[in-house]
Amino acid sequence: MTGFEAQWLALREGADFVARDAAVRDAALRIFAHRDEITVVDLACGAGSNPRALAPFLGSRQSWRLVDHDAGLLASARAALTAWADAVEGEEPLALHKNGRRLTFAFQRLDLNADLASALEGAELVTAAAFFDLVSRDWIERFCAELSRRRLPLYALLTYDGRESWTPPHAADAAMLDAFHRHQARDKGFGAAAGPRSSAMLRETLERHGFEVHVGASPWRLGPGDAELIAALSEGAAEAVAQTGLVDAAVIADWRAARRAARGCQIGHVDIFASPRGIG
Ligand SMILES: C[S@@+](CC[C@H](N)C(=O)[O-])C[C@H]1O[C@@H](n2cnc3c(N)ncnc32)[C@H](O)[C@@H]1O
Repeated sequence: MTGFEAQWLALREGADFVARDAAVRDAALRIFAHRDEITVVDLACGAGSNPRALAPFLGSRQSWRLVDHDAGLLASARAALTAWADAVEGEEPLALHKNGRRLTFAFQRLDLNADLASALEGAELVTAAAFFDLVSRDWIERFCAELSRRRLPLYALLTYDGRESWTPPHAADAAMLDAFHRHQARDKGFGAAAGPRSSAMLRETLERHGFEVHVGASPWRLGPGDAELIAALSEGAAEAVAQTGLVDAAVIADWRAARRAARGCQIGHVDIFASPRGIG
């Protein structure tokens, strides 16, 4: 289990919202502009941040299936979407109204490594945010082959790309980042994780399968107003690096203290929209 906490996902939601690349979103929306109704499957949905971000850009009747292996996060997603809605029409399935749109949500608990095919069933658009760094090269290959076979478009947001810069810099930044990336490559349930190489791997694999691929940068640009997120990032990185044993404990402690007080940082992500040629 990867064990993401709803509290961490809520903390990053604001930064995720503003980071999303508008040109990639426009490319995705062009395909669906004429559609009033759409069925979307959001993979590794966590607490449902992605549908909250995308729903305002899609048609007036949306049917979402949110997939995750964590029952607690699926329950958080249901609660957060209900709180976000203007009105609740029904509970089973969850039917909501938001800004003049009618949205239904189904929640599917499923391990995406074991049962990818069921997750993709019935989708017209597949979305996923902050997910692909967890999966392996083999899974990306299997996933893209399956998308290609089904001629399904993919809108993948906020895939970590390994680039980080912190202000002010610290002497241990490079050693800490290298060790953090080694930790990221540990198996997260899909085999050795692609980590910071995942965005490049996803793009290359989609292109090889004949998709038309749009790519845009979606970095977090965090400043003094993001102190809580900066502190959480610093703690998470320091803990991960400590587990690798690659950096001296005193260096980690010094880096952690400096990073908690950092004025800002940029954390690299990539957005991708990929469509099978000839659709749209
Ligand atoms: C970084 S979180 C992103 C959550 C959400 N997409 C967001 O943007 O807030 C990664 C998500 O992947 C899910 N996940 C990890 N391994 C999974 C698996 N094998 N099957 C299904 N979901 C998985 C986690 O439960 C978590 O919700």
